[in-house]
Amino acid sequence: MKTDMTLNELFELCSNRLEKLLPVYLRDIPSLDLKTAMEYTLLNGGKHIRPLLIYATGSMFAAPLENLDIPASSVELIHTYSLIHDDLPCMDNADLRRGKPTSHKVYGEGMAILTGDALHTLAMQIIATHPSPLTIDKRLRMIAALSQACGPYGMAAGQALDIIVMNDDTISEDLLLNIYQLKTGALLSACIELGRLASKDDDEIHQRALKEFGNYIGLAFQIQDDILDIEATSEALGKHQGTDAKNKKITYPKLVGMTTAKEKVQSLYQQALEAINFMGHQAQILRELVEYMLERGR
Ligand code: IPE
Ligand code: IPE
Ligand code: MG
Ligand code: MG
Ligand code: MG
Repeated sequence: MKTDMTLNELFELCSNRLEKLLPVYLRDIPSLDLKTAMEYTLLNGGKHIRPLLIYATGSMFAAPLENLDIPASSVELIHTYSLIHDDLPCMDNADLRRGKPTSHKVYGEGMAILTGDALHTLAMQIIATHPSPLTIDKRLRMIAALSQACGPYGMAAGQALDIIVMNDDTISEDLLLNIYQLKTGALLSACIELGRLASKDDDEIHQRALKEFGNYIGLAFQIQDDILDIEATSEALGKHQGTDAKNKKITYPKLVGMTTAKEKVQSLYQQALEAINFMGHQAQILRELVEYMLERGR
């Protein structure tokens, strides 16, 4: 993959690749209802931040595009599964997602749960089986990174803590940030590592710096999500504004105040940039992506 990418080239590449790949993975599913429900949320215009991070990091290390396609699609599948389950009545009880009624509203709760299950497992199947020059060792390391980030050592634990302790107004700032790291940061951070794993880079200094970078942007991303839940419109978000308040969630802006929360987002992105500063021009695409994320309004 070409190394000197502009942000616009990255966006175009990412949407072209996903548009081509994702429908192919769903083509032969033997239940038409399941297939339709999977397509409904998956192919419905998410922002693709996670695949963008994977292609961006991969481009820094000249990873082959076919190697990056695998984690990029897998992560988008896992992320979409997490949204479908997050919206269920027993979790956030949300009825709008990506500008349309949520999966369970259209297909019922049983099918929404199965759709999430199917997307989750298919993600692992893709890493294990999709043809590409990726070695078996690399595939295993990708599965390890991804399952660590989205299972009981990552997102699943974060979501469990979210439903149990995020309604407690004595929650500490540290615990809240720890929950954000688990429920959202871990997967975003894994994307950076997956992009690097798709390349030949085996520099531990890169690995450590990129992990730090990933952790900072992951936290910032969730705090922004909570800020947007208060300040943006439902139209812009494609999900109902005010869902956190309706669910009486103690989110970061609620806990520390809007001004401090916005300052925290700025400082986290700043810390992220500092972590990769030493990489100079090689990391330019990540800097541009950070700028884009910093300004996001949805
Ligand atoms: C929303 O993620 C859920 C969080 C983890 C904050 P995104 O804001 O990336 O959602 P899409 O993919 O663009 O719909
Ligand atoms: C993200 O938190 C949780 C996931 C890991 C799916 P939210 O519950 O705030 O995400 P949105 O706002 O519904 O997208
Ligand atoms: Mg939630
Ligand atoms: Mg939610
Ligand atoms: Mg939210």
